[in-house]
Amino acid sequence: MRRIVIAGNWKMYKTQAEAMEFLQGFVPHLDETPDDREIVLCAPFTALGSLSQSLHGSRVRLGAQNVHWEKAGAYTGEIAAPMLTEIGVRYVIVGHSERRQYFGETDETVNLRLKAAQAHGLVPILCVGETKQQRDANETESVIFNQIDRGLVDIDQSNLVIAYEPIWAIGTGDTCESVEANRVIGLIRKQLSNPDVPIQYGGSVKPDNIDEIMAQPEIDGALVGGASLQPDSFARIVNFH
Ligand code: 13P
Repeated sequence: MRRIVIAGNWKMYKTQAEAMEFLQGFVPHLDETPDDREIVLCAPFTALGSLSQSLHGSRVRLGAQNVHWEKAGAYTGEIAAPMLTEIGVRYVIVGHSERRQYFGETDETVNLRLKAAQAHGLVPILCVGETKQQRDANETESVIFNQIDRGLVDIDQSNLVIAYEPIWAIGTGDTCESVEANRVIGLIRKQLSNPDVPIQYGGSVKPDNIDEIMAQPEIDGALVGGASLQPDSFARIVNFH
């Protein structure tokens, strides 16, 4: 059975105080959320501790946005898995296109981070996606298959979420047509040894397109950037019809 996983990626937004304010507006909406949906907030490291305390006993799971492959060491600016699990973090985004584009993340470092996450009991959310240029050159499938094949070397597919995020759809308001997202996600699923891996769509997911996206048979959830920052808008997304 494939799980439904709706995750907010706050990126580099929200102080601790802003994170607490978000919860006040967001949590009451979860009374309406069907039980079969996993709800995840991937917050900046500095907000994770307070969020963890406030969300204790709630159904919202916490996620980080990166994890290093060593469990400790001289890696200035990085974060280790035990630092995340100690405070109750369950998920971690790995290989987001912004990490690949601005911080030199490669399929090899993505693979190391995925392994470390799994070794410490975190569920990694592996992000893959093509640029506009690659799409226009008919390279979408080959780019994504490479990211999947190289990223998933020796990875346990029973403890994994994948997010298909076409880069041209991120933060642009230019959502990938849901039928096309469904098609690519179906192709990704065929590349996997475990067809039950939840595969999310990400890229300009909003309250007004979530119902259509989630109606697609291959799409198991969403990874939401901008629209996860406002309580009402993220609540409408997790409560999709
Ligand atoms: P937007 O929802 O803001 O397009 O961001 C998508 C994303 O990058 C989620 O990881």
